[in-house]
Order: sequence, then C-alpha cells, then structure tokens
Amino acid sequence: MQRSSLGAQPLSLPPVPEPPKGERLKNKVVLLTGAAQGIGEAIVAAFACQQARLVISDIQADKVESVAAHWRERGADVQALAVDVAQQRDLHTMARRAVELHGRIDVLVNCAGVNVFRDPLEMTEEDWRRCFAIDLDGAWYGCKAVLPQMLEQGVGSIINIASTHSSHIIPGCFPYPVAKHGLLGLTRALGIEYAPKGIRVNAIAPGYIETQLNIDYWNGFADPQAERQRALDLHPPRRIGQPIEVAMTAVFLASDEAPFINAACITLDGGRSVMYHD
Ligand SMILES: NC(=O)c1ccc[n+]([C@@H]2O[C@H](COP(=O)([O-])OP(=O)(O)OC[C@H]3O[C@@H](n4cnc5c(N)ncnc54)[C@H](O)[C@@H]3O)[C@@H](O)[C@H]2O)c1
Repeated sequence: MQRSSLGAQPLSLPPVPEPPKGERLKNKVVLLTGAAQGIGEAIVAAFACQQARLVISDIQADKVESVAAHWRERGADVQALAVDVAQQRDLHTMARRAVELHGRIDVLVNCAGVNVFRDPLEMTEEDWRRCFAIDLDGAWYGCKAVLPQMLEQGVGSIINIASTHSSHIIPGCFPYPVAKHGLLGLTRALGIEYAPKGIRVNAIAPGYIETQLNIDYWNGFADPQAERQRALDLHPPRRIGQPIEVAMTAVFLASDEAPFINAACITLDGGRSVMYHD
C-alpha cells in the first residue's frame, strides 16, 4: 500500500527482506514459539535460510501452519504445531514432537508474547494473569520442557525474546515491563544454573520493531504517518528496527559462533536506551 504523506491513509507492513542464505544452523533442531507473525515469522525465515530443522508453534494454528508450508515449499524442514504457551502441557507436547521427529533439541526460542498496557489500579486481575501467563510463565514452561533433553545431550541454547521494557520503564505500559523484567531474571538465573552443563540461556531485548502490533497502534491515530515518524525520530539512527534484524541476532546466538555468550542480553534499539532523556 502506498503511504500518504498527508497521513490520511492507514499504514501497512513493509515487505520482509530476503534473509541471507547459509549453513550457520545446519542440522540444528530448533523449537520456536510465537511463529505465526512478526518477529517470530522473521525468525522462521532466517533460521530456515540457515538450514535449521524447525518445529514452530503459535496459538494461531492456521497461520503458523501456513508459515511452515511456505518454507517447506522452498525445501526447508519446518513442522508446525498449535501451542498455547500459557499451557504447560502444550510446551511438553512440542518438545516431545521435536524429539520424535529429530531425536534432539539444540535451540529453543521463546518468542510468543503480548502487550498488556493498563492503568495499574484499573487493570483487571484477568489482564494481570494473562500478561504473566504468556510473557513469563510461557517462557519458563518452554525452558522446563526442553531442559531435560538438553541436559541429556550436554548442549543447548535457549533464547528469550525480552524487550527494552526488561530494563527500562515507559509510563503507561504496566504490567508488561514487570513480566519482561522477570523474563530477563529468568534468563540470567537459568543461564548461571545450567552453564556447567553446557547450556546457554540468553535474551534479546528489541526496542521499537516494525511489526503489525505497532502498525495497528499507529493506525489508531488521526495521522498514522506522523505518529510513525515520531517513533522514528526517538531513535539515534532515525528509524526503528525490522523483524529480520531481531531474527539475525537470534541466528547468531543459536549458532556455534557464540559459545561464551551466556546469561547475556543483547539490546536492539539503535542506541535509544543509552541516551539520557530529560
Ligand atoms: N514489536 C516490538 O516492537 C517488540 C519490541 C520488544 C519486544 N517484542 C517482543 O517480541 C515478541 C514478538 O512480538 P511481535 O512484535 O512479533 O508481536 P506479534 O503480536 O506480531 O507476534 C506475537 C505472536 O505470539 C503469538 N501468541 C500470543 N499469545 C500466545 C500464546 N498464548 N501462545 C502461543 N502464541 C501466542 C501471537 O499469535 C503472535 O503470532 C514478543 O515477546 C514481544 O513482547 C516486540
């Protein structure tokens, strides 16, 4: 869709760039949650193009199956499952499926997540529970499901898609940053706990990334283009991030190129969080 400089027209997502092709994840068995769209979908693309064997999942069953089918048609090894990360048994089913198919699990990427932005005192108990069930419990259930297999193998890499909200607070976003701070704590605690057993646990903290989530947010303003521009101007490079940039960072952490990176968090925000704000 052509964007209007007058801002009257709704915004749409830019086309996803073709990920680089290579063998950086050749034969690695990768489990991924939240794979139906956005950052998760870009991770599928980047990992498939580096020859990973993927078992991907999402609560949107049809959508995640069509992502898998897209990559299978291009020769990639991608299987899809319907998984609600708030349900511990779903993650165990996913881990079992990967072992049945491939005999091992090398990488888990916990990407499923939701924005829950509420006024603290007006928020319902249900909103609080939903935020923690998906953004924190879901990642823990994923880790719990794959750790026994990784321990048996003596090797594994877990990547949690955290957020700049994992270490900074933006007013009006409660309780999302509380859960994302917890996710960073989980990353560090498990990274230290399992490092002697050959398992690395790391996080990626994206800032503002151009996904449907943000397009929908901007389209809620009278001038979506102006609101998008405002977001771009907040960042030192005068742009926001693309899902593929998060995905390529995940490729690095999942590969054999990062053996001493553990309990770490890589921030992807163009340097915004380093700046001093008045
Ligand atoms: N887009 C950003 O600016 C941004 C910034 C920082 C962090 N993140 C994080 O990145 C991750 C992906 O975000 P995105 O922007 O691609 O969002 P998105 O909404 O486009 O994708 C999230 C995916 O998670 C799935 N999901 C939601 N609830 C689920 C559940 N209970 N079980 C299984 N799957 C479920 C959704 O169906 C969707 O496919 C999230 O963890 C988010 O918090 C995003």
